[in-house]
Amino acid sequence: MSNVWDAGGYRKNAAFVSDLGDAVLELLAPRKGERILDLGCGDGALAESIASMGASVVGVDSSPSMVDAARVRDIDARLGSATELTFENEFDAVFSNAVLHWIPDAGAVLDGVARALRPGGRFVAELGGFGNIAAIRVAQRLVLENRGIDLDSISPQFFPTPREYQGLLDRQGFSVSSIELIPRPTPLPQGMRSWLETFSRGVMNRIADPESYLDETVRALEPSLRDTEGNWIADYVRLRFSAVKAS
Ligand code: BEZ
Repeated sequence: MSNVWDAGGYRKNAAFVSDLGDAVLELLAPRKGERILDLGCGDGALAESIASMGASVVGVDSSPSMVDAARVRDIDARLGSATELTFENEFDAVFSNAVLHWIPDAGAVLDGVARALRPGGRFVAELGGFGNIAAIRVAQRLVLENRGIDLDSISPQFFPTPREYQGLLDRQGFSVSSIELIPRPTPLPQGMRSWLETFSRGVMNRIADPESYLDETVRALEPSLRDTEGNWIADYVRLRFSAVKAS
């Protein structure tokens, strides 16, 4: 992952990520007594909702600050990478929200998820899909190009089409129950600058003039993502799916 996550900043500027997690939680439909892995649990907000439905939840996150925040919510959160999962045949479901697009090595993730699930277990997740934050990426790419920096090298992201992701799931032996691309323009109550500060920290840490990068990117995006009343709306597109590991 190219971003370094800080639980405090994330709670302030990105609480909407878990607030908008209801649809994928509904698709997961956790049942009492199930053992569920929340992959990229962040500060544990959704893991806590899953636990409140009677499931036993293990969270994994690569950020120590997020793991600490999830533990405060009483989640069994563990520090680890989504590409190096070590669980074997032990979960009824693996769940993930707004994480998989940060990890270009989808094969390594799916390998670990398939191994972690018991036969018949389900993998239910939402990530950025094809076209996600396209305007934002174009603006970032141009602003960085002017500095001789390639955005996709310093901050790669993975926004697959349903067909592409279905192919990866099929290859891993999953049977796909549903997979869809959902455009979801998302209001940013804290504005675009805060969004960039939270979600492009990996870029800001790699350049000499992060403040000018923020100013220029915000300016470039204003005509397309800021409405006449001054509200910022991000051009999110979600890919949501449910798949079952072969029995
Ligand atoms: C998202 O789709 O949730 C997302 C993608 C890239 C950066 C930040 C958020």
